[in-house]
Amino acid sequence: MASTKIVLGAIFIASFYLSASLAFPPGHHEGAYPVGNGPVSGLSPDYYKFTCPQADEIVVSILKKAIAKEPRIGASLLRLLFHDCFVQGCDASVLLDDTEEVVSEKNAIPNKNSIRGFEVIDEIKAALEEACPHTVSCADTIALAARGSTVLSGGPYWELPLGRRDSKTANMKLANKYLPPPNATLHRLIKFFQRQGLDKVDLVALSGSHTIGKARCVSFKQRLYNQHRDNRPDITLEKSFYHTLALACPHTGGDNNIRSLDFVSPSKFDNSYYKLIMEGRGLLNSDEVLWTGKDPEIAGLVKSYAENEPLFFEHYVNSITKMGNINPLMGHNGEIRKNCRRVNQEI
Ligand code: HEM
Repeated sequence: MASTKIVLGAIFIASFYLSASLAFPPGHHEGAYPVGNGPVSGLSPDYYKFTCPQADEIVVSILKKAIAKEPRIGASLLRLLFHDCFVQGCDASVLLDDTEEVVSEKNAIPNKNSIRGFEVIDEIKAALEEACPHTVSCADTIALAARGSTVLSGGPYWELPLGRRDSKTANMKLANKYLPPPNATLHRLIKFFQRQGLDKVDLVALSGSHTIGKARCVSFKQRLYNQHRDNRPDITLEKSFYHTLALACPHTGGDNNIRSLDFVSPSKFDNSYYKLIMEGRGLLNSDEVLWTGKDPEIAGLVKSYAENEPLFFEHYVNSITKMGNINPLMGHNGEIRKNCRRVNQEI
């Protein structure tokens, strides 16, 4: 009788733990809640509350130094989040270097000689490892760096859901396929975003990231000399803007010369990007078509953001949260990389 009781008790305790562990699988915190309009993500702004409460402070202190040294670096770090999340989700796959097993996304066409900021991520990650070993993922490091860079450039702050884990793989082919090219038509841009569960509002708001940072001539040269494969410039380019760009980017050579995406306030996160595209002074084709692409909803949003910066910031916060929630790895999936450039070695 006594032994039956012991067995029943053991079954009861075991089933209690089993159901509790199913309700909160490893990596999920009790306080986790779904955010954004996307699928339930399970990430939480409090994820490191007990394990690394100083994580954001560490990130911001390193960002401050890096941005003081080179204001553009904030833009480069913000872009990293985009190029990470659009390729197999926000899993830091973009940070992996080439190895025998990994074909780095860094060599994909949209990234090669273009994407930057890796040394700052290394510095942040090293500081995080020192303060809280094996705790903060590289994917969250990118997200924290993107949020911090936006805020330090004068842009909005947002509650950042955390708890992403890092991939053990990269996918260069997917980076070539899923990252939109700068000469894309509006129709294609919409498709690129839809594929990630993002809508027209997200497209317009997130394109506003081009309020900071720079682009190489090769990214917009087609507009100057051969927009429709007819050896003519893009007629939507404002005349004097066209002339300054043509001076910086000659017909042959100079492909790596750079111009600001928003020449009015290149290091300030504000709404001047939208004002510029309404004047035909957007740098990339993908910027200008938001205004000229004959989509009333999209053009309407451009106008609203140009007239109303708080509205832009409000939508931006919502859209970048959605983007940051794309397919995170959680629970037993992925790992917490020690070094963001490579997968942990099995011991
Ligand atoms: C809508 C589709 C988009 C296209 C076609 C596009 C394309 C580009 C291109 C071609 C560049 C310049 C790269 C170079 O010449 O080396 C660039 C820069 C940049 N992009 Fe985008 N982008 C898009 C959306 C986004 C989004 C969603 C974000 C962030 C959430 C973003 C953030 C940035 C930033 C901050 C820079 C400047 C980077 C720097 O100065 O290092 N872009 N983008």
